[in-house]
Amino acid sequence: MSTIIVETQSGFLTESSIDSSVAEAMPGVACCVFAKDIPGSNAVGPITYDETVLADGQVTCVGHIIGAVVADTQLAAQRAAKAVRVQYQDLPHIVTIQEAIAAQSFYQPIRTIKSGDLEAGFKQADHILEGEMHIGGQEHFYLETNVTLAVPRGEDGEMELFVSTQSPSKTQLLVAKVLGVPANRVMVRVKRMGGGFGGKETRTTVLSTVVAVAANKLKRPVRCMLDRDEDMLVTGGRHPFYGKYKVGFLNSGKVVALDVSYYSNAGNSMDLSLSIMERALFHMENSYSVANVRGRGFVCRTNLPSNTAFRGFGGPQGMMVTESWVTDVAQSLGRPAEEVRRLNLYVEGESTPYNQMLDQLTLDRCWDECLQRSGYQQRRAAADLYNRLNRWTKRGLAIVPTKFGISFTAAFLNQAGALVHIYTDGSVLLTHGGTEMGQGLHTKMVQVASRVLGIPCSKIHISETSTNTVPNTSPTAASASSDLNGAAVLNACQTLIQRLAPYKTLNPKGSWEDWVKAAYFDRVNLSANGFYKTPDLGYSFDTNSGRVFNYFTYGVACSEVEIDCLTGAHKNLSTTIVMDVGHSLNPAIDIGQVEGGFLQGLGLFTLEELHYSPRGVLLTRGPGSYKIPAFGDIPTQLTVSLLRDAPNDKAIFASKAVGEPPLFLAASVFYAIKDAITAARVESGVSGPFRLDSPASAERIRTACCDRFTKLCPPADPGTFTPWSVQV
Ligand code: MTE
Ligand code: HPA
Ligand code: MOS
Repeated sequence: MSTIIVETQSGFLTESSIDSSVAEAMPGVACCVFAKDIPGSNAVGPITYDETVLADGQVTCVGHIIGAVVADTQLAAQRAAKAVRVQYQDLPHIVTIQEAIAAQSFYQPIRTIKSGDLEAGFKQADHILEGEMHIGGQEHFYLETNVTLAVPRGEDGEMELFVSTQSPSKTQLLVAKVLGVPANRVMVRVKRMGGGFGGKETRTTVLSTVVAVAANKLKRPVRCMLDRDEDMLVTGGRHPFYGKYKVGFLNSGKVVALDVSYYSNAGNSMDLSLSIMERALFHMENSYSVANVRGRGFVCRTNLPSNTAFRGFGGPQGMMVTESWVTDVAQSLGRPAEEVRRLNLYVEGESTPYNQMLDQLTLDRCWDECLQRSGYQQRRAAADLYNRLNRWTKRGLAIVPTKFGISFTAAFLNQAGALVHIYTDGSVLLTHGGTEMGQGLHTKMVQVASRVLGIPCSKIHISETSTNTVPNTSPTAASASSDLNGAAVLNACQTLIQRLAPYKTLNPKGSWEDWVKAAYFDRVNLSANGFYKTPDLGYSFDTNSGRVFNYFTYGVACSEVEIDCLTGAHKNLSTTIVMDVGHSLNPAIDIGQVEGGFLQGLGLFTLEELHYSPRGVLLTRGPGSYKIPAFGDIPTQLTVSLLRDAPNDKAIFASKAVGEPPLFLAASVFYAIKDAITAARVESGVSGPFRLDSPASAERIRTACCDRFTKLCPPADPGTFTPWSVQV
């Protein structure tokens, strides 16, 4: 088996000049692979084919893949790749959202969701305020970087691929397109991933297609696993967002009008950026009822590696801006933020700006339970006292709700399949369309099959996910995999149970194995496939009608922090989460998902900061320069409870999706920090709304605590803290 390594050397060029002669003569090198080696099409992409497998002519970001070197060891391949000489001719480039806005560099369409009468809303308002916020991107930092093993089978153009991907079917289709063969020659297999988090929904094909081309050229198996620095540079991450808002509200704190614009940094290709912007817009009001709204979404085309899905899929960015204006409203009225939040919280029967009626709403129950479990009022009193006694450290609190829409927003993706075999010894092989990435999907699917078939989980096995068992699958994403695949597994298992029923009736005291054997000897088909599609979906932006989501997952978190006003450091003292996941399929998994999602959000909003040079070169390419959460960042007290007695009639066994919704609850930590900063500012005689960008890094916390020392420095430009780095 050979190893391939993709070395990216790029800039902005019109005509690429590549000299690989030295590399090709190096020991162990089998060959180099460039665009000319692609037998099929070099035009790829998950939705629009606006990308190349291997750059041909123009490259549009640092990290764009030009070619690959195949050698007998990873080291030899990496060394040789460094020896390839590439010359570039610089072209003008756009790196930041602000640069894209100035150049009007947007992908089309620009989305709008409008409801009510905005003008009348602002007329009705007692106050109007404006604000803005930037939310930085995020690196997926899955433990396992991107990896593909491609094995040509030597017949009829067949190729078998073992890929760490959330999308076996997308991988199959793109590899087939690139190799110029029908999809039925390409088999993609996924045992499991060492984490995906959305980073392996589409961007995995950036590598898998190249490995397939190399394996096809050499007619030998080729494997490549990216090093961490390459993975961080090449595969993109969460979209940075910039939000600008104007909000109208009454003296009571009730918000009556909202005009908000979102700008995302999509990078050099479309990828999923439009869907991600749509999900941001579908979450622009978070959990609050606003009668008159306009939300607009601009997807910026820039010269960065294409950004992509990341847990929450634009929802967290959308809701982060919401919480910024809620905080501003409270601060401008001098009212506690939790009162303003509670006052504006949705009630049963109200409709979202995209005209979806909210029923079985549990937000108020989550809210009240969280308030009570966290001891909010006592904590508030204690924090106020602490802040009176301490000048240079301050404590802050925030309680933040979330409402996360469950369904792929592209309705056609809401389908799934399953294939179940019963063998004559009674053991069951289960396959379904979803992939396992640590979220416990396979465990839940075995539980579903066990419950329907009426046999213990130990008799059921899932071996892998593959395109030749369940075809045309949607990516394992949108938190909906248990809902979708679970219902497909249920469907298949019900078919089998019906087929076995006569043998059970004949031998009611018999065992599972007896019935299976009897059915087999009676020549009954012991294999069944199952299928499911979510009913009643189909939203249209043109008419702002039709259901977007099957239902919503709700949660509320209350966090308390302490900041050091002089260094900007902070400590996470406590977080209390109440999450409505319906009748949990597996409480141990779901609590793990809530904890993991929350911590990943905590990294996003308080720790993780990508730095780019003004020319768009990613500078943070490893854990040494990019800080992900560690044990010490977990709140000293962290309590997660699942809301009791909240069955959901829209999903399998009354459960709810859990994967992405809890991530946003980490906003409670961010807004607790903002609350603590507010206490520090009050001591300097400063009050009222102020801008705080995400992440709430030490620099931002320090400079926002304005005092006699910060007055000695020039006012900080929110976009730059260091001369060598820009906020993208
Ligand atoms: N949990 C773990 N351990 N690893 C992951 O990669 N991905 C998250 C979430 N939880 C992820 C995870 C994301 S982005 C999604 S969309 C869901 O899991 C996908 O799986 P599900 O649909 O089965 O919830
Ligand atoms: N969520 C997550 N992943 C997706 C979606 C979505 O709505 N649409 C396409 N991929
Ligand atoms: Mo998750 S971002 O939908 O893979």
